[in-house]
Amino acid sequence: MTHKIIIDTDPGIDDAMAIFYAALHPDIDIVGMTSVFGNVTAEIAARNAIVLAERVGQTIPVAKGAAKPMVMEPNGVSDYVHGVEGFGTMPAQPITGKPVDEPAHEFICRMIHEHPNEIILCPIGPLTNIAMALEHDPTIAAKTKAVYIMGGGLNKGNVTEYAEANIWNDPHAADAVFAASWDITMVGLDVTTLVQCVPADFERLAASTPTIGGFLNEAVQFYMDFYASHYGKRGCDMHDPTAIIAITDPQYFTIETHALEVIVDGARIGQTLRSTDPSRPKHKVPMDVDAEGVKQRFLSMIETGF
Ligand code: BDR
Ligand code: CA
Repeated sequence: MTHKIIIDTDPGIDDAMAIFYAALHPDIDIVGMTSVFGNVTAEIAARNAIVLAERVGQTIPVAKGAAKPMVMEPNGVSDYVHGVEGFGTMPAQPITGKPVDEPAHEFICRMIHEHPNEIILCPIGPLTNIAMALEHDPTIAAKTKAVYIMGGGLNKGNVTEYAEANIWNDPHAADAVFAASWDITMVGLDVTTLVQCVPADFERLAASTPTIGGFLNEAVQFYMDFYASHYGKRGCDMHDPTAIIAITDPQYFTIETHALEVIVDGARIGQTLRSTDPSRPKHKVPMDVDAEGVKQRFLSMIETGF
């Protein structure tokens, strides 16, 4: 079965890993990418999504999305994690294409209507474009096959003790997305922090696939510097690729179902919680993972690259 996916992304080093995995997977068809502020500005995110599409040699439409959160002021980019241009110390990469002439939220709505019950949305950045699409046309929820979100976490945060970065960057948008009745899998820090790669993994990829693995190995050095300075060991969490692997390899995940809500102000802003509100739909939340299985799935898929 081919999964038709739209990746909503703020590339971003682990975004690059996720997009390469999806692009190389024989059962995934990336029908579009939408860009969003987050790790980098909206401008850089759109450019970087095109960089990644061109690097895998695929013609993937990229629609430019939100430059700021729906309600609150922006928190600012994560250049200390992903680098000023989003791929570590790499300078801005040349591109030949440009974004399509349609804003991200309209692109998402149009694609869902053109492919009813076929599109899987994969937001791996702040949820602004997804919430804007829902606001623009609430009927998309019933026509979307599934939504796989990298974000949140029921037991841990990363930017604060409580909040994960993608949710923290637009908590109002995230809360609106979780309030909608569609089939969400929230792939959060509960599992993504368990899937980790180390320098030798990326060296292996660089040796076998210079175009893709070499790019990742170069970009990931800065990302691993960040992890080394914060956690005392050189390696990195595989956040965004884990969310895509949950689509292709659900057997690796132990999934609970919970209604979810997001705290939108105060000290715990951006925290994802189990909701007791009976009007909220239940969503899937992976709470444990075969981390080695997911990691080897990622490495072997990139190794088949070119
Ligand atoms: C998430 O935040 C971003 O920095 C990463 O790309 C990932 O999507 C992890 O919290
Ligand atoms: Ca991301």
